[in-house]
Amino acid sequence: MSAVQKRIDALRAQIEHHNQLYYEQATPAISDREFDRLLEELKRLEVEHPEFASPDSPTQRVGGKPIEGFTSVTHREPMLSIDNSYSADDLREFDTRVRKLLGGEAVTYVVELKIDGVAMSLTYENGVFTVGATRGDGEQGDDVTHNLRTFPDVPLRLPEAPAHFEARGEVYMTRADFAQNNRERIAQGQEPAANPRNFAAGSLKLLDPKACRRRRLRFFSYALGPCEGVEVKTHLEALDLLRRYGFSVNPHIASFDTIDAVIEYCTGWATKRHDLPYETDGMVIKVNDFAQRKKLGTTAKSPRWVIAYKFAAEQGITKLISIDIQVGKLGTLTPVANLEPVKLAGTTVKRASLHNADFLETKDIRVGDTVVVEKAGEIIPYVIRSEPEARTGSEKAFRFPTTCPSCGSPVERDKNGTFYRCTGGRKCTAQIKEVLRAYARRSAMDIEGLGEKVIEQLVDEGLVNSIPDLYRLTLDQVAGLERMGKKSARNLLDGLEASKTRGLARLLAGLAIQHVGDSVADLLANEFGSIDALMEASPERLNQINGIGPIMADAIHAYFHEDHSQGIIEDLRALGLKLTQDKRPSPAQAGGADLAGKTFVVTGTLAKYQREEIEALIRQLGGKASGSVSKNTSYLIAGEKAGSKLDKAKQLGVPVLTEEEFETMIQTQG
Ligand code: IVH
Repeated sequence: MSAVQKRIDALRAQIEHHNQLYYEQATPAISDREFDRLLEELKRLEVEHPEFASPDSPTQRVGGKPIEGFTSVTHREPMLSIDNSYSADDLREFDTRVRKLLGGEAVTYVVELKIDGVAMSLTYENGVFTVGATRGDGEQGDDVTHNLRTFPDVPLRLPEAPAHFEARGEVYMTRADFAQNNRERIAQGQEPAANPRNFAAGSLKLLDPKACRRRRLRFFSYALGPCEGVEVKTHLEALDLLRRYGFSVNPHIASFDTIDAVIEYCTGWATKRHDLPYETDGMVIKVNDFAQRKKLGTTAKSPRWVIAYKFAAEQGITKLISIDIQVGKLGTLTPVANLEPVKLAGTTVKRASLHNADFLETKDIRVGDTVVVEKAGEIIPYVIRSEPEARTGSEKAFRFPTTCPSCGSPVERDKNGTFYRCTGGRKCTAQIKEVLRAYARRSAMDIEGLGEKVIEQLVDEGLVNSIPDLYRLTLDQVAGLERMGKKSARNLLDGLEASKTRGLARLLAGLAIQHVGDSVADLLANEFGSIDALMEASPERLNQINGIGPIMADAIHAYFHEDHSQGIIEDLRALGLKLTQDKRPSPAQAGGADLAGKTFVVTGTLAKYQREEIEALIRQLGGKASGSVSKNTSYLIAGEKAGSKLDKAKQLGVPVLTEEEFETMIQTQG
């Protein structure tokens, strides 16, 4: 072995050692400067002697440069969510269903802790770590590879080289690191993070991997994603493989043949879990055998072979100091309690929802009362009741304001008497801000650069009063805002421009129509194909749609018959927004085209489809849409300005289709 290679090996071992120490102890053995010196030397040697460079060198973990922004990754197979259960009876029902669907076969369940963190998928091509992505909306997540590379428990190279390997799991922050990181935040004059999960999620969004590394995040792997070239038949085998490949697998895993034993194990953890060094919000129960999983299949939302058992909500007692009124996007006034801080499920709770006016009255909750607050996992805390016995006489009944705290318009009570609503409509700045927030949200129009702070300023400065106003903003207006340079102003305008082609479903999701969330918006867009067709639909016609009931139908109809909404839609049309959407053909309509077993990658700009649309179409027809080209890609669909993916496809001999060729393919097939 040459002297250089020896030095490289020695440096790598030393750096890995200090890396581990850094993660294991709050006080590492050497200073950051010394650490950087070792790293610099190694980097230099690797540059001078590229023959010794290696994807699993520690230089790959800590040396990364900040990235410019996030790109999204389409998961090869969606990251589904799991059904929740809250009681022993729920678990027994789950067991009955499983056994029934399996025709009475014997079943083994594997029970694991449900780690309260951020779901993640790590991809390895030929044994080398290529992409780490968040769950996102299940179909597409954010590429956070640059940050994941810094985790000591994310192997950069596997001991074997399966063609494609995906490890799924949870990124989390230990309680100790959470406390330490929060102390640092406070010392720097920043607001502390609310809980370890939020802190972990926020850290993953850092563009600079060095900053992320300082947060000492960790990763537990608990499942395989789609893989090629690995043979595993059960979940326990999968966990063994993950361990052998160098992943951290949580040690608290048990398997049982009866649901009673599962229940006993789960309830045993309800208190023990507080002694763990990280947070958990329940248990996960999985059918062990993969052949049985296949038989059980999945519903639209979640697999039938797995269930989460959530621990009971935690309650705390504290004092209600005062009540604020928040104005929602449709003008609903929500009372929010300001509380004396109370520790609940590992977090300090200072604010909690009081639901609505009716709740305050019927539960007779008064300012100054002692109240019971409840928090279950990720759900916002709620006030459950007050304790009238604890009253001293100084408590005051809360009077709902008769005018909107934001715009001063009169407040009116709804038909059922449950809610108060501000009548200010588009004159109420609080409502406008909420509408814009809902519009810019990721699953709606996904407008880059239009965050809460910017919306706040745009409305307060009088530059934006409605959704169409957003598209009338000029560069100078935006650049004139506080803490906005020309560059961020340009970004916002580009973000707005890009949003114009999102299509009908996303637009409907963003319009703040009562009862219309993302999935109803999708349903409507697919049913009508254009906003004009939707606007003409009668309540009866709407009610006929599977998934839309009479109340929703009336609300949708009413929305499209208000002058104000009609004005908005006409403005958006004039501003060039896409108000249509190609309907998803059913496989039968598309001539029975069957893309089963075929994997497509889409790259570049297409003329007719948004990326999400064509990918949805591929899936609809039974094919797979993937984000990266490998030798297993069946076709690359390349639009304008296709770049590295096209090169890679050519290199690997993957057939390349134009958009038209793809359309011909699905029309002539089957
Ligand atoms: S299995 C399709 N196992 O819980 C099933 N999930 O509420 C794949 N989670 O999105 C998930 N610990 O982020 C599984 N031991 C565990 C888990 C776990 C935490 C998270 C995961 C998932 C969420 C569902």
